[in-house]
Amino acid sequence: MVDLRVDPDSAQARRQQPRRYLMCRPEHFAVRYRINPWMDPTRPVDVALALRQWQRLHDTYLALGHQVELIPAAPGLPDMVFTANGGFVVDGVALGVSFRPEQRRPEAALFESWFKEHGYEFVAPREINEGEGDLLLVGDTILAGHGFRSSSASRAEVADVFGREVVPLRLIDPRYYHLDTALTVLDPVEGPGGVERANIAYLPQAFDDASRAVLAERYPDAVVVDATEGAFLGLNAISDGLNVVMSPHAVGFQAALRERGYRPVAVDLSEFIRSGGYIKCCTLELRRRP
Ligand code: ARG
Repeated sequence: MVDLRVDPDSAQARRQQPRRYLMCRPEHFAVRYRINPWMDPTRPVDVALALRQWQRLHDTYLALGHQVELIPAAPGLPDMVFTANGGFVVDGVALGVSFRPEQRRPEAALFESWFKEHGYEFVAPREINEGEGDLLLVGDTILAGHGFRSSSASRAEVADVFGREVVPLRLIDPRYYHLDTALTVLDPVEGPGGVERANIAYLPQAFDDASRAVLAERYPDAVVVDATEGAFLGLNAISDGLNVVMSPHAVGFQAALRERGYRPVAVDLSEFIRSGGYIKCCTLELRRRP
């Protein structure tokens, strides 16, 4: 396995933060129904290839020094590999999920049990929300996507549960149906003295005008990614503050990140794009109590 751990002297500009992720091996991965425009059930996926690609992502996280927990895959739930939709976890509190598409609804109880068994304080959702697919923590603020999957009504609930500011963002392009397909959180959430940096990358065309204006105002230094880069789910990436695990195809986005001192780490998940998912979708961040 390649050692991707960072020599602290060579990484002065950006600092890597240790992370803990929840993943699910794609043993039962398939495209059997169509709940987003990427999915075509007439084209079977290559499960052996999917398993190899997923393993590479998993091993990359370990090589970067992160911890990975696994939730067992369940037969009959082909989308369970997309653990980002299994919850939203901050400070040891896990808000459960309630899926819009009925095909994914049985996953919610499995994630709920996992959180409870692993010492997280579980909060049952009242509104439809698809977890970290639509809820992203940037510094102290929670960005909440709605328009396709999570309900805009979940905003108040999320604010209540986590006691943080929640900024709603309306998604308008069906190809970017979850917030994490159109926006990447780049920076560490917190440093020893509180939030140090909170920056993002995003694809403007995925948002309505009002949301675009909010993003431009709040994140004047954001990496604004164009449509070619955003296609193939280039924004569905994971950053630890230094390393950005991302699509090998988003070369312009990679160059923009390099210029700013980040280190792109390419992992190809071509089999998963056929379900409308990529790197971030396969990864749920587990944030423990400080
Ligand atoms: N096929 C899955 C669905 O449509 C893909 C989920 C991708 N997850 C994500 N966090 N964007 O629900």
